Amino acid sequence: MTTIRTAITDADYEGWRAVRIAIMPYERCPAVAELREADRPGRLMLLAEVDGEVVGSGLADRSGDGQRAALMPMVRPDFRRRGVGTEILKVLADHAVAEGYDMAGASVDDEESRLFAERFGFRESNRQVEQLRPIGDEPKPAPPTAYEIFSVAERPELWTAAYHQVALPTFPDMDHPVALKVSEDDWEKEWINDPAAMFVAVAGDEVIGVAGLMLDSDRPERAEVAYTAVRREWRGRSVAATLKRTSMAWAAEHGITEIYTWTQRGNESMRRLNEHLGFTYGIVSISLRAPLPLSENLSRDPSGQ
Ligand SMILES: CC(C)(COP(=O)(O)OP(=O)(O)OC[C@H]1O[C@@H](n2cnc3c(N)ncnc32)[C@H](O)[C@@H]1OP(=O)(O)O)[C@@H](O)C(=O)NCCC(=O)NCCS
Repeated sequence: MTTIRTAITDADYEGWRAVRIAIMPYERCPAVAELREADRPGRLMLLAEVDGEVVGSGLADRSGDGQRAALMPMVRPDFRRRGVGTEILKVLADHAVAEGYDMAGASVDDEESRLFAERFGFRESNRQVEQLRPIGDEPKPAPPTAYEIFSVAERPELWTAAYHQVALPTFPDMDHPVALKVSEDDWEKEWINDPAAMFVAVAGDEVIGVAGLMLDSDRPERAEVAYTAVRREWRGRSVAATLKRTSMAWAAEHGITEIYTWTQRGNESMRRLNEHLGFTYGIVSISLRAPLPLSENLSRDPSGQ
């Protein structure tokens, strides 16, 4: 019998992480402490158990731009096609409706999951492509003359300054239909996890760019590229490339052998920059949307044909 329940204890959170890591080994999963920090009213973490064994998990939260409920049902490959994903999704969607949402968002990285999602009315809204870069011998870039680079460990106060001077003015430039809504608190808690691996460019008393890495304690040899951005008036002057090369040199010195990032479909400038730095392409993640409450299309043909 399948039981769906809320994740409460640290052991539950570890069970939730185990499912996420099994299904998405290519993407860093937040540690329990980070998941706890991300907890907020309206956010729901679920576990699905069969005979007491955790076989699936779920997450419902506010979407990045605050306009939708982001829903994520996950089922271990060896327990699929038994209705567990449907049960998890229904609990997540009911929760989202109770929270007042009329639209849900989700993302899928494989064709099977897309077929599942389409059955409940989800349709593609955007795509993100993974870009990967092996880390070898990475020379530190020559020190720039027009600005200076510091790690956030060296100058912790600059992370808050970076929120106001770089993050807020550049979020609208990402290829999101609606700009991301990130509070200063989210920025401090969720957009950095090791200040030594995060770098800021400073000209005079202004932060003009940020780039760095999010480290992964489950897979210390891999790191995710953190938010990279440069103030508009400083673009085209190699600030982003210099910041990224600084973080790649840091990665090489700290035993990291691969870094990766996700770039929105339309964000040509970031894709080009990454290509220029030697990144290659990996998997494609499809963002989907569905009106709430969800409707189940039992014909199994989402086009209705
Ligand atoms: C998507 C996922 C949660 C489905 O879990 P599941 O427990 O296998 O799903 P269900 O058994 O409830 O499937 C319900 C229906 O979805 C469709 N479906 C699910 N997997 C399918 C597949 N591999 N091929 C075709 N249709 C599929 C079918 O219509 C299925 O009904 P049926 O088995 O009676 O034909 C699981 O594949 C997963 O964890 N994927 C990775 C995470 C993810 O992308 N989540 C989706 C976000 S919306």
